[in-house]
Amino acid sequence: MSSTLFRTKRVEQSILDTEEPEHALKKSLSALDLTVFGVGVIIGTGIFVLTGTVAKNNAGPAVALAFVTAGVACALAALCYAEFASTVPVAGSAYTFSYASLGELPAWIIGWDLVLEFALGTAVVAVGWSGYIQSLMDNAGWEMPAGLGSREGTGEFGFDILAAALVLVLTCILVVGMKLSARITSLVVAIKVIVVLTVIVAGAFFIDGDNYDPFVPETQTVEAGSSLQAPLIQLMFGWAPSNYGVMGIFTAASVVFFAFIGFDVVATAAEETRNPQRDMPRGILGSLLICTTLYVAVSIVVTGMQHYTDLSVDAPLADAFKATGHPWFAGFISFGAAVGLTTVCMILLLGQTRVFFAMSRDGLLPRFFSRVHPRFRTPHRPTILLGVVIAVLAGFTPLTELAALVNIGTLFAFVVVAIGVIILRRTRPDLHRAFRTPWVPVIPVLSVCASLWLMINLPTETWVRFAIWMAAGFLVYFFYSRFHSRLARHEETTVGEVMRRPRRGER
Ligand code: ALA
Repeated sequence: MSSTLFRTKRVEQSILDTEEPEHALKKSLSALDLTVFGVGVIIGTGIFVLTGTVAKNNAGPAVALAFVTAGVACALAALCYAEFASTVPVAGSAYTFSYASLGELPAWIIGWDLVLEFALGTAVVAVGWSGYIQSLMDNAGWEMPAGLGSREGTGEFGFDILAAALVLVLTCILVVGMKLSARITSLVVAIKVIVVLTVIVAGAFFIDGDNYDPFVPETQTVEAGSSLQAPLIQLMFGWAPSNYGVMGIFTAASVVFFAFIGFDVVATAAEETRNPQRDMPRGILGSLLICTTLYVAVSIVVTGMQHYTDLSVDAPLADAFKATGHPWFAGFISFGAAVGLTTVCMILLLGQTRVFFAMSRDGLLPRFFSRVHPRFRTPHRPTILLGVVIAVLAGFTPLTELAALVNIGTLFAFVVVAIGVIILRRTRPDLHRAFRTPWVPVIPVLSVCASLWLMINLPTETWVRFAIWMAAGFLVYFFYSRFHSRLARHEETTVGEVMRRPRRGER
């Protein structure tokens, strides 16, 4: 049985699958498109919302160091992702990579895990977007009826109708096609980057050096509440739950990690890239570098404008300008944030449908979902199904706890990809790699350590939820996917055949 759990899909087969006409996606993206795509999804709720939350609750002005820490972990993972993406240029990201290297069960686990990352990530960002829209509506004197607005922090039951509506509109755009989405993305990314640069440049004039004192606030023990809310590492070592100090920077890093999610989504578009061997590494590393620089600059400026204890947790970038007496800037930033979060949401949704599509093409999920639309050439069925599910999720779910769950899922995927790089180098040294991760196995091993470190700095309750989700995944795999896997069925048909006939498309 273990041999079937770890059966691998040949890399060449993954590439051949994409050439079957009814399962093929259009190849239209360049390195620049990918970078825009990356920046489009990376800059979002993380910098616009979480910066204030973690500066206030966990790290103080040292939130800039938290961004550096999370950025380093992502850069290590990106070096591994880039090798995989340029070797296996097929839809599905880490899922496809692990199918080619680690085997079917690990690939299933990763695919299941990515569903968590992208679906919940989309919902989280949609709720964040809704909050900014409501803040803009407030400025104009309009208010959402009770029960239909944001419920963050209110603890009341309701349905966030704006968040749900956003997801449904984006679903329609994605069904119509990649080209349209990419064009909209470019425009919105430009607005978002202008807004972020405005925060950095204009905000620099309002920095008060006293706000950086202390840069790393002293460790404070928090009152014992539910121990499940403390980071796992504190529970593991029996430390009293605390905030700030050096460990506070790591707690903050594990949360602001959300701000970097998205560079791996670039890898999910490999199949739609004209020259993936050359352009994927450029797209992934380029977008990551741009975003890390912007994040560090923004967090230094914002914590310099306002003392960290006074920062707002809802719209910290805009509110820092209000606090310095510049409401016009605040309005502009709120507007840009709302526009920017739209693309983040759209690209996460896109990544999600592509993973689902790849898993269905392999038979691990029903094959019904892997037929592309005859005219638009998009995987319309998973897009519509997931769009509706996520819209409902976004309507009912509060933002903050889900972000941690998204992070743990993504970090876990990074661990598997890094291990996959090492394994594939040994099992398939012959494969052409347009991009080679430097210093293998050192970089992948460091990547595994960095991701695990951030994972154990996440709350214990996040680990519990993650374990439940993964357990559900195992059930689906053992009761459905294992028997419907295309790889499994192919093995069966070849048993007893003296010589396998060439399949269509095989050379
Ligand atoms: N990195 C994306 C964000 O911060 C997911 O919203």
